[in-house]
Amino acid sequence: MDFLKRNATCGQLRKSDVGKTVTLNGWVSSSRDHGGLIFIDLRDRYGFTQVVFNPEEDQAIHSVAQQLKSEFCAAVEGIVQARPEGTVNDHVATGEIELHARKLEILNTSETPPFEVDDHSNVNQELKLKYRFLDLRRPSMQKNMILRHNTAQAIRRVLNTKGFLEIETPFLTRSTPEGARDFLVPSRMYPGQFYALPQSPQLFKQMFMVSGLDKYYQIVRCFRDEDLRGDRQPEFTQLDLEMSFVEQDDVLETVEAVLDEIMGSVAEKPVQPPFPRMTWAQAMDNYGSDKPDTRFEMLVSTLDDIAAKCGFKVFSSAVEAGGTVRGINAKAAADKFSRKDIDNLTEFVKTFGAKGLAWMKVEQDTLAGPIAKFFTPDEALAIREKMSAAPGDLLLFVADEWKTALDCIGRLRLEVASKLGLVAEGKFNFLWVVDFPMFTWNKEERRWDAEHHPFTSSSARTPDEVRKDPGHLVSRAYDLVLNGTELGSGSIRIHDQTMQQAVFDVLGITPEEAEEKFGFLLSALKFGAPPHGGFAIGLDRVVMILAGAPSLREVIAFPKTQRAICLVTGAPGRVADAQLKELGLKTVT
Ligand code: AMO
Ligand code: AMP
Repeated sequence: MDFLKRNATCGQLRKSDVGKTVTLNGWVSSSRDHGGLIFIDLRDRYGFTQVVFNPEEDQAIHSVAQQLKSEFCAAVEGIVQARPEGTVNDHVATGEIELHARKLEILNTSETPPFEVDDHSNVNQELKLKYRFLDLRRPSMQKNMILRHNTAQAIRRVLNTKGFLEIETPFLTRSTPEGARDFLVPSRMYPGQFYALPQSPQLFKQMFMVSGLDKYYQIVRCFRDEDLRGDRQPEFTQLDLEMSFVEQDDVLETVEAVLDEIMGSVAEKPVQPPFPRMTWAQAMDNYGSDKPDTRFEMLVSTLDDIAAKCGFKVFSSAVEAGGTVRGINAKAAADKFSRKDIDNLTEFVKTFGAKGLAWMKVEQDTLAGPIAKFFTPDEALAIREKMSAAPGDLLLFVADEWKTALDCIGRLRLEVASKLGLVAEGKFNFLWVVDFPMFTWNKEERRWDAEHHPFTSSSARTPDEVRKDPGHLVSRAYDLVLNGTELGSGSIRIHDQTMQQAVFDVLGITPEEAEEKFGFLLSALKFGAPPHGGFAIGLDRVVMILAGAPSLREVIAFPKTQRAICLVTGAPGRVADAQLKELGLKTVT
């Protein structure tokens, strides 16, 4: 052995170990020189141990210890001793003991780290991402990685027990339609041609069902070239699953079992399946969102009947134009929001397309505020009743076409609740949103879009029904929502090739295009495809919420920045001309 190898970890030693001689390996987290005595905290994945170098016990080792600096990698052999009275540290698991060094080996020196490797320093995000390997030494980051590992293991435990097979699907493939841009990989063997990285294994997992593999899952990387946000990364991980001979309830129960295990054994926040279900229409109407945060009330009210006849032009003309007037009641908030605060809320909804924000304060017998004069006493009473208003409440309204009004009032609901501190922390409100519309009308491009994806089945029983009234079809798609975040989506699929063709027709995908893009799936559907359905959960999102992290970056080992850059490797980067030539490519920038 060419180094002093550990026989314990830095998080392991307790008072019961006093007197033992042990060897630890780890990194120097901090070192303090107390008039001759040197104390260091040695850190590894498992914790910290205080090591003492006493010149009176061993002068030679003490001199070597003087060379130790932050993040040096070291091996120490020593005797476990109880800490003197008054120096016990209740905040660390090893706080009752310390290791009195007898041997010290510097396994490696370290340059001065660009930031202190602890959870207390406020470090620039870019610097942390550039030196991610150091950032990952921080206890909180290690905790997140362990949480991620444990979550993946919980998933495997449940699905393995239920007879699912974990099977991989290709990364070098053709475009899969999940609605984002593809990342392309040029082919050297076929210059001018490209593979696409999968946006999900959707088509492959459906083919597995045709193959009779019956129950499939995979913890799999997906790639989507889309604009990034805190809860979106260009490459992310799904728990992807698919099942044969099932209906919606079977899939939902399976997903619930997985989350039950994660919440119970990993997060230690037990939940009680079945999770509540809400139709998409209820979610939109009551929360202004297809992913409602149900941790607080403040439901959205519809005021169209009162608004249509009232004297406030903003309201009446919106309804007249086929739009809607929606409001929320911020309970007891009339005094909590100043005019300036309301102006800020107005600016907030305007960024989501609202034309303005109307508001009224509820007083003993009247409604007050600049627009109150437009309402007759009867109308004011009707508004109060509809919104369960009491004196001291603040009523906020958005009038617009349906989508904008709902989107703005839904976002306003979240904003106001967060400002009022109504969002209960530590709550995990899982919710199924079911019965999504099958198609949504894309006004700009004047065509139907699939609300989930084109392989989702619907309430239509025949291909003709699909073509006849696409706008009114309810799809057999479902989303899982946790605290207002979409965790996952799935659907019962189309397993009949003529139904699939009808959906392509509505989406304006010609038979030639369908053949070119998904011919393989259409072909598979012709060979005895069973009824099947499935689901995909964003693993990163689950871990992010369990970790209480503000962004996916905290739970992905090597994430990309907001601008899709990997700061560790510098990717994306230019490549040598020779490599481009081999691929038959020329860049123009
Ligand atoms: P969908 O596109 O809804 O469905 O994706 C499923 C879940 O994956 C997560 N997710 C993301 N997480 C991080 N960054 C991203 N860019 C990102 N995009 C999606 C979300 C989302 O709910 N094939 C279908 C599933 C199916 O029908 O079985 C699919 O991929 O948590
Ligand atoms: P105006 O009549 O434009 O002066 O607007 C009167 C009030 O109604 C202001 O507080 C505006 O912010 C608000 N407002 C204007 N348009 C809308 C709208 N579409 N929905 C809700 N409030 C609006």
